[in-house]
Amino acid sequence: VSPDDMSGKHVLITLGPTREKWDAVRFWSNPSSGLMGACIAMAAWLRGAKVTVVSGPVNWWFPEDINVIKVNSAQQMFDAATEVWPSCTTGCFTAAVADFKPIPHGEGKFKKEGSSALRVDFDTNPDILKTIGSMKKDDQQLIGFAAETSNIQEAAKGKLERKNLDLIVANPINKPGAGFESSTNSVYVLDRAGRSEEWPDLPKTEVAWRIWDHLLLN
Ligand code: C5P
Repeated sequence: VSPDDMSGKHVLITLGPTREKWDAVRFWSNPSSGLMGACIAMAAWLRGAKVTVVSGPVNWWFPEDINVIKVNSAQQMFDAATEVWPSCTTGCFTAAVADFKPIPHGEGKFKKEGSSALRVDFDTNPDILKTIGSMKKDDQQLIGFAAETSNIQEAAKGKLERKNLDLIVANPINKPGAGFESSTNSVYVLDRAGRSEEWPDLPKTEVAWRIWDHLLLN
């Protein structure tokens, strides 16, 4: 039997990659599977929370009473998340949002004929979590993720502060058994009060459960 220790909470979760369209058939993206976010959403739901998922282009199954808003681009994810956030108690931002988007080539499909090289210019995307952090009220709690290749602890602390988070979960992306396309994750968590923990390599289902355990203690 699952505990009911998240009943009364409304949790917003972003997950998956974003897709930034360049022409009719091409886009800029990354290999995020969205598994970590899907595990976090399911754990919150099993513990009694109302759950809204804003999902990039991945296809996880969710029970019918989890509200899933499907998006493609970072701008669409931004629009959906900022609209839902004021009615939520808790946010968990696991999406691997593209920081940049190619300036679109135009309507049709780019043809290679006559071009030996290709130059693409990029624009910046909004930082969704930073915006949500700046909207955060005293009775709302916010969790962010940090995918890092070096100086994990320092980077996590910087992001916790810059994005006004209550908890940050940092994971190495250059280590086997962690990150993007893996079913396990080895993470470092740091909360607002300065408490930190390093967890061993665990299945993402287990990491998800522990993240909620940790947040509920605060
Ligand atoms: O700054 P960085 O991208 O490393 O921060 C990672 C955290 O911020 C993740 O929780 C990610 O979901 C969120 N993020 C976001 N919008 C962006 C970039 C990152 O919500 N444009």
